[in-house]
Amino acid sequence: MSDANIGKQAAGEVAAKLVHDGMIVGIGTGSTVAFFIEALGRRVQTEGLKIRGIPTSEATVAHALRWGIPLVPLTPQTRPDLTIDGADEANPKLDLIKGAGGALLREKLVAAASGELVVIADASKRVAHLGAFPLPIAIVPFATQNLVSQLKEEFEVTPHLRLLANGEPFISDDGLYILDLPFGIIQRPAILDKRLKIMPGVVETGIFIGLAKRMLLGHPDGRVEAVYPVE
Ligand code: A5P
Repeated sequence: MSDANIGKQAAGEVAAKLVHDGMIVGIGTGSTVAFFIEALGRRVQTEGLKIRGIPTSEATVAHALRWGIPLVPLTPQTRPDLTIDGADEANPKLDLIKGAGGALLREKLVAAASGELVVIADASKRVAHLGAFPLPIAIVPFATQNLVSQLKEEFEVTPHLRLLANGEPFISDDGLYILDLPFGIIQRPAILDKRLKIMPGVVETGIFIGLAKRMLLGHPDGRVEAVYPVE
């Protein structure tokens, strides 16, 4: 197993221990969350843990059901007590870039409704500044060409429309396209998030500000470090 996967699995397994009987659990998307789902599924099957999950993507729906985790929709009556999700980058404040899996819209909806968001990640995801990882934004397909040109003009960034291996645009679970924006260092992520969100056609950005209060960082030796936001 690669160093990254050792860290991802270790973080996923520690996160599964945070779940208690009766909880509603937001379940993120990605390869780290897949390890969490497997560890949680084992607890459901062996300990008879009674929980309900709220998935953030169709991929997570499929994986959670495969592991015997009962799922419910996100409603005012079923808000997650705790959400476990991955990240592409986390800075010392635990501001995040998310969305490599294209699930950033549902991930933000679930995280924002959740009592607590705990990020699970391998050690490579900790960064001093966000932005080396291209920022994903979810957009309305109809707006693509105009947004690409506006983003070039306003931010001097070259947006990349996310494509599938066959060259067709990637389409999210909500029917949106993803633009990946290679900003380099993002000095003020909260301001950038607001500036992007007011552009007509931008539905959501992969910048997550102030939502994560804890990160479980898995190291290549299998150690899991709890990381808290530094103000
Ligand atoms: C999914 O849209 C993303 O936000 C993932 O949570 C993020 O890309 C982390 O993925 P990995 O756990 O696969 O690194």
